[in-house]
Amino acid sequence: MSVALYARGGGVGCGAKAAAAARRPGRGGGGGRRRAAAVLLLLLALAYVAGLLVFVLAGVGGVGGRVEVGREVGVMTVASLRRRRAAAAAAAQPGSVYRSHLVFERLWPDIRDDASSASAAASSLSSTSWRRSMLMTSHYQNPGELWMPCVNRKLIRPELPPSNGYLMIEANGGLNQQRLSICDAVAVASLLNATLVIPAFHFNSVWRDHSKFGDIFDEDHFIETLKQHVRVVKELPVDVLTRFDHNISSIPNMRTKAYSSPNHYMQKVLPELLELGAVRIAPFSNRLAQSVPSNLQALRCFVNYQALRFAGPIRVLAEDMVERMVKRSTLTGGKFVSVHLRFEEDMVAFSCCTYDGGLKEKTEMENARERSWRGKFHRHGRVINPEANRRDGKCPLTPLEVGMMLRGMGFDNTTSLYVASGKIYNAEKYMAPLRQMFPLLATKDTLALPEELAEFEGHSSRLAALDYSVCLPSEVFVTTQGGNFPHFLMGHRRYLFGGNAKTIKPDKRKLVLSFDDPNIRWNRFKRHMQDILHHSDMRGTALRKPNDSIYTFPMPECMCQQDGMM
Ligand SMILES: *[C@@H]1O[C@H](CO)[C@@H](O)[C@H](O)[C@H]1NC(C)=O
Ligand SMILES: *[C@@H]1O[C@H](CO)[C@@H](O)[C@H](O)[C@H]1NC(C)=O
Ligand SMILES: *[C@@H]1O[C@H](CO)[C@@H](O)[C@H](O)[C@H]1NC(C)=O
Ligand SMILES: *[C@@H]1O[C@H](CO)[C@@H](O)[C@H](O)[C@H]1NC(C)=O
Repeated sequence: MSVALYARGGGVGCGAKAAAAARRPGRGGGGGRRRAAAVLLLLLALAYVAGLLVFVLAGVGGVGGRVEVGREVGVMTVASLRRRRAAAAAAAQPGSVYRSHLVFERLWPDIRDDASSASAAASSLSSTSWRRSMLMTSHYQNPGELWMPCVNRKLIRPELPPSNGYLMIEANGGLNQQRLSICDAVAVASLLNATLVIPAFHFNSVWRDHSKFGDIFDEDHFIETLKQHVRVVKELPVDVLTRFDHNISSIPNMRTKAYSSPNHYMQKVLPELLELGAVRIAPFSNRLAQSVPSNLQALRCFVNYQALRFAGPIRVLAEDMVERMVKRSTLTGGKFVSVHLRFEEDMVAFSCCTYDGGLKEKTEMENARERSWRGKFHRHGRVINPEANRRDGKCPLTPLEVGMMLRGMGFDNTTSLYVASGKIYNAEKYMAPLRQMFPLLATKDTLALPEELAEFEGHSSRLAALDYSVCLPSEVFVTTQGGNFPHFLMGHRRYLFGGNAKTIKPDKRKLVLSFDDPNIRWNRFKRHMQDILHHSDMRGTALRKPNDSIYTFPMPECMCQQDGMM
């Protein structure tokens, strides 16, 4: 959900990223160079042998055709040799090319017949021998390290100090970028003893959603919940507005750098606020440093997890959808897996990755890039390198890949899956294999009736809010491509589930290696997937490091460790 964010991030496109990736001596890079050298040696040896052949064959008045071929190799220039070497090396490096559909074709009979995967995974975790789904024997239980929310304990403020003036901010981006702006705005208002005006949402050309704060979040609940901590008003009072000719644009906009420190606000913004009685900050996303004093962190969490709840209509439908999802999951005790699929056209285009769609895909992606990021990918010096992107784990996973990964990890066909996503690119083609592997697959379109969804259509943020609400209580959340949506969900789930995000976040650099070998055996594939799962699980209960976001890592600032089980 953060294509827009990426796109604005200082002119970063996949071309630039790819170049950086190619330069970085990452994992497998050395091996690649060694392999490239081997290929070169091989080519040289071939050329030498071919040259000999030309000589010998010519001597015996040999066959014309062969001589021609021999000559071609013989006269190969160093430059052309180098070009071929580079091409061969790029394609030869494991994980460079999308071959997952071939792997799937070959492995499908094994996947289909593998009814034992779940029971095998289950029996390794418990002594029960009967067949149980992996979801029933949740491996997300870690009683040794139980964290509980303790924000209220950390937020003590006897009474509100007098207000120093009004703070207005404009939130930009999609749903979760707005969420981030709102939480940070409350923190800044608290720091400055300012009164916050309900944030305005900036209309964005990528998200195309005219929703206002109250269309997405419950405004009254927000104001009421925060009242002991920060004053929030729906609008700037008329007497203040009069001072600015009834024109909000006349209120000075305090340009603020990304990740500004609390000090910056005290030194630069506070004096203006005191003098003018109102200041604006627009745009306001990522405008407060990740690391701030712990009372501000606790306030950020308080806003995110308690003051912000979705508006009534979203909440009502979302609750129904969760209930329906639980009902569909009777085979697994009501537990289900949610997947954030980022295989929408804009994401695929932006990633500059290549799949198995040939020329048609190439043209569609070119057009999509031109449409959304005019010319950006053709600027001088941009190198688009799909192979390097893929090896570097930057490519969105196809639904097929997600399905194979989950089956390999041990989720069998009784698992019900909720897929959170916008419009999947080439959905008929790519969703079919995922449905084949997980017949109990749901999306918001299959879970809700068209008339229920009608009022949300055309509002990407409200649709994302529905997806967010269904993913939140799932037993396992699978994230495949980064962005604000999964980052906020992971944090929220840590907050709700004793500190564990219960998230599968695969290392895609490893994943592409298993998907690159059409001859891989199912058992071997499964072992790789279970290894990836194990590594992902180990990061479930992680503490925030200095540059991490509090919204992804609410521990330790917003949660407290309990002794043993509760
Ligand atoms: C799941 O797979 C088993 C074994 O192939 C098959 O018998 C069963 O019908 C499948 N279940 C569903 C819901 O498709
Ligand atoms: C805000 O109010 C608190 C509590 O009265 C006070 O300690 C602090 O100095 C005030 N900060 C500002 C910027 O006015
Ligand atoms: C508000 O102020 C801005 C800039 O100061 C100006 O461009 C705009 O025309 C004003 N709008 C109205 C309605 O007066
Ligand atoms: C943390 O982020 C700041 C600001 O983005 C940056 O200057 C600093 O180098 C980062 N520190 C680490 C350890 O990554």
